[in-house]
Amino acid sequence: MTKIGIIIGSTRPGRLGPQVAGWVHDAAARRSDAEFAVVDLAEFRLPLFDQAVPPAMGGTGGPEAQAWARTVDAFDGFVFVTPEYNNQLPAALKNAIDFVCAGWADKAAGIVSYGGAGGTGSAAQLRQLCGLLGLADVPGQVSLHLATDFADFAVFAPSRSRARALDALLDHVVAWASALQPVRSARTASVA
Ligand SMILES: Cc1cc2nc3c(=O)[nH]c(=O)nc-3n(C[C@H](O)[C@H](O)[C@H](O)COP(=O)(O)O)c2cc1C
Repeated sequence: MTKIGIIIGSTRPGRLGPQVAGWVHDAAARRSDAEFAVVDLAEFRLPLFDQAVPPAMGGTGGPEAQAWARTVDAFDGFVFVTPEYNNQLPAALKNAIDFVCAGWADKAAGIVSYGGAGGTGSAAQLRQLCGLLGLADVPGQVSLHLATDFADFAVFAPSRSRARALDALLDHVVAWASALQPVRSARTASVA
């Protein structure tokens, strides 16, 4: 069965990310075409990128980095739940992405962004990264606004239209993650 990781892209105390990821997971749990799991970056306690040998050249890093790489490897696709900090991707998410190289390739990704302006700047940066990593980002996007999708900017309360957009995003992520399976298999076979 296709496995999709829902990655919480923020790590700070009091973050809104887990509420949004929980909403994604609830919608995903109603489906039978893939397995979904929430992946909380905060639990990995990754250091600031510290590998003398980059992942692209075989560097594995310390135990935290290795646990993170194993987790990424276990999934066929991802939903990035990302806020926006100063119109950019959160540093914690960029850092975590840098710790892995081949583990992202030939998989699918969807983006659920949130922020004062919907997190669209963060999402655009993430798409650029996906291109570099060979991670196929699906065209749809769920963009959530602090003023309209969160009560008092703190409690997640998305509108119905957001749920429809999320379902469409999940359809696409599962379809692409499954369709890319032969590509991943061929790559693994050529390395072995
Ligand atoms: C340092 C910082 C910078 C921010 N900059 C932006 C921004 O440029 N655009 C935006 O839409 N929201 C911005 N926000 C609002 C965040 O998107 C919002 O606080 C969100 O809840 C952060 O996600 P988190 O709670 O999961 O950490 C910023 C928040 C912080 C803490």
